[in-house]
Amino acid sequence: MNRATLTRFLIDEQYDHHAVPADLRLLIEVVSRAIKAISINVGKGALAGLLGDAGPGGASINVQGEAQKKLDVIANEILLEANEWGGHLAAMASEEMEGPHAIPHRYPKGEYLLLFDPLDGSSNIDVNASVGTIFSVLRCPDGVTDPSEKDFLQPGRDQVCAGFAVYGPSTVLVLTLGRGVHAFTLDRELGSFVLTRENIRIPVDTQEFAINLSNRRFWEAPMQRYIDELLAGKAGPRGKDFNMRWIASMVADVFRILTRGGIFLYPRDNKDPSKPGRLRLMYEANPMAWIIEQAGGAATTGRERLLDVIPTSLHQRVPVMLGSKNEVAVVSGYHQS
Ligand code: AHG
Ligand code: MN
Ligand code: MN
Repeated sequence: MNRATLTRFLIDEQYDHHAVPADLRLLIEVVSRAIKAISINVGKGALAGLLGDAGPGGASINVQGEAQKKLDVIANEILLEANEWGGHLAAMASEEMEGPHAIPHRYPKGEYLLLFDPLDGSSNIDVNASVGTIFSVLRCPDGVTDPSEKDFLQPGRDQVCAGFAVYGPSTVLVLTLGRGVHAFTLDRELGSFVLTRENIRIPVDTQEFAINLSNRRFWEAPMQRYIDELLAGKAGPRGKDFNMRWIASMVADVFRILTRGGIFLYPRDNKDPSKPGRLRLMYEANPMAWIIEQAGGAATTGRERLLDVIPTSLHQRVPVMLGSKNEVAVVSGYHQS
């Protein structure tokens, strides 16, 4: 069977469907090349001494207050280096950097802003489970040549491209440009991404949920009620049994939902009042929310559509509930009543 490569797919989107301008297409190509390089590094693992914490004494802390893994730092550098000189970007922002990363003056500048979580699920690196990369593309506001933090603070509904990669048994790239969700598998011999799932659709109903249940005592009442009812199974108010999965890599959990449905929840908790949730809005929740919506699912904070949240800072955290539409409706119903 002659499948399309990512390059062919993007060319068709540009010329046949006018769904992607040339400079955005080339930007996505560059991001996909960086993802290939990250995939190679992730795959080397202990052979290249790439496991474990970053920093000389193993104590490098990022802006989130979290210890960086070596691969967090390497993946961030790969994305920065790959995207600096192509001429498609006005600036970048990353989970691993406090403020926006300017395009050096010696390089041409473009019209887009790229945001990324270079390595998602990094607690899984040393145990050899799936990790990934998440990215989001926004337009740089008109007339802005040196973007600062405020230029990035656009709601998720204004994204022009969102995607993520999972470095699992195979490396898969999932992408939306606002015309459905498509998945590409990395052919390691050819070095190209090959279209393996077109127009992914998420079942509207599900009997599978994903949550870190150890936080139950810190949740708000509606979330405790919702999960307690799922756990009660057939005999409880929901009248059916539910299965649970938690990979602790959002990329892998979301890919499962794109494959067989489900609901993923990282709710608000009262562990640390300065953090209204674990996941970050701009480069985790927003791109995933758009992908999920484009695949026929729903994504909410419990109180509002995720894509409508007006950001107030680059690294702000947000409660996340996404996946099969009818299940997301139940949990947001509990938050609204
Ligand atoms: P990151 O590795 O980029 O900090 O993100 C990890 C996120 C997400 O991938 C996952 O769903 C969640 O954190 C896991 O949280 P717990 O450790 O609480 O299970
Ligand atoms: Mn992450
Ligand atoms: Mn990360």
